Amino acid sequence: MSSCLKPALALALAVWVASASAAGPSDKFPGIGRAATSNEVRAWDIDVRPDFKGLPRGQGSVRQGEVVWEAQCASCHGSFGESSEIFTPIAGGTSAADIRTGRVDSLLPGANQPQRTTLMKVSTLSTLWDYINRAMPWNAPKSLSADEVYAVTAYILNLGNIVPADFTLSDGNIREVQQRLPNRKGMTTAHAMWPGKELGGQTRPDVQGSNCVRDCKKDVGVQSFLPDYARNAHGLLSEQSRLIGASRGADTSRPPADKLMPNQAVALSAQAKAAPEKIAAKTPDAAAASSAVMPVLQKNACIACHGMDNKIVGPSFRDIASKYKDRADAVNYLSGKIKAGGQGVWGNIPMPPQALSETESARLAQWLAKEF
Ligand code: HEC
Ligand code: HEC
Repeated sequence: MSSCLKPALALALAVWVASASAAGPSDKFPGIGRAATSNEVRAWDIDVRPDFKGLPRGQGSVRQGEVVWEAQCASCHGSFGESSEIFTPIAGGTSAADIRTGRVDSLLPGANQPQRTTLMKVSTLSTLWDYINRAMPWNAPKSLSADEVYAVTAYILNLGNIVPADFTLSDGNIREVQQRLPNRKGMTTAHAMWPGKELGGQTRPDVQGSNCVRDCKKDVGVQSFLPDYARNAHGLLSEQSRLIGASRGADTSRPPADKLMPNQAVALSAQAKAAPEKIAAKTPDAAAASSAVMPVLQKNACIACHGMDNKIVGPSFRDIASKYKDRADAVNYLSGKIKAGGQGVWGNIPMPPQALSETESARLAQWLAKEF
């Protein structure tokens, strides 16, 4: 392990030193790439560390945050951060006692807490700020200003009674608020994966896995597997990953169900008995039509939210197709809805408007209404 790690580290360091010092093309590795410009580095370098290094200046109040939340977050996460329709709820499950102790009681075994929320788990406020800043709102990441991120973070903290309703969160007081985070003492570094010795940690991580190579099980059996109907929910994974490196992504289209490992096949046939419609073979025509529109679905990331046969964030394409199969103006209706998005037909989660061409949305609508 260490013998192959060292050259890799040395190479990483050399690349880092070269890119940090050089402004023109690298002379260490002639002909390979060029040094990143400072603007490029700035656009990438947005992480906020637990010690708040990287946090931009700014501020936002709970009240301003409520406005951002209602307009841009509540549709998915609920007005009070309570929604569990898309992943786990944001707020709930913490108490005034937790704020005092820094440990969340409802995480303890036997606590009568149905679900873990973000505020129960998060131990560094920088993580909450950073995550919202880089990833939310989900349909338009990185669209919030720094002040809006402060404001909406303040609003979430207020939902957990960590700050009062008239509070303004800023780069000046965020360290004090960290000291009130309910689970701030709930994280362990005893595994030594981070920080390791290099960063001032006390012990070396157990990279040999000595804890888990003792008393191993003799017979290993597959306990669960991705059911056939879900395997291509996100398209063919092996076509979507980078072509270098060891991990190329699984060929999710293979093997066909009947060529799976024996215990998988047994489970699959049990499942077929339980829910035959879920894994029923498509007709050849329908399969051909689906693969013809697949590039359009992939290009527009529709399959991030819709599975062919399974609900993800939105309904399955099969359910949509069967809902509208008898409707006379189905193509027009669906084409309009694909472009405009909407809410309330299938549940509370909204579909954001989609930036695809008229021709593409008409093609997809035609497929859903007539060819599925
Ligand atoms: C279109 C739906 C949608 C909208 C709108 C949205 N989110 Fe999210 N949010 C998600 C999804 C989905 C996840 C989980 C993503 C994942 O795990 O990869 C998530 C995760 C989160 C998390 C992390 C939860 C955890 O414990 O891991 C936070 C915090 C969050 N969102 C805050 C916000 C804020 C603040 C806004 C508004 C500025 C917002 N979200 C808008 C869908 C949405
Ligand atoms: C961020 C997730 C997301 C993305 C991306 C997305 N959808 Fe949706 N879609 C949804 C949700 C959620 C609904 C259900 C909305 C409702 O209940 O009214 C939906 C509903 C639909 C409907 C049914 C509308 C109706 O009135 O019954 C169609 C058709 C549809 N989507 C097609 C598409 C296509 C095509 C794309 C890609 C261009 C796409 N969606 C991208 C989440 C998404």
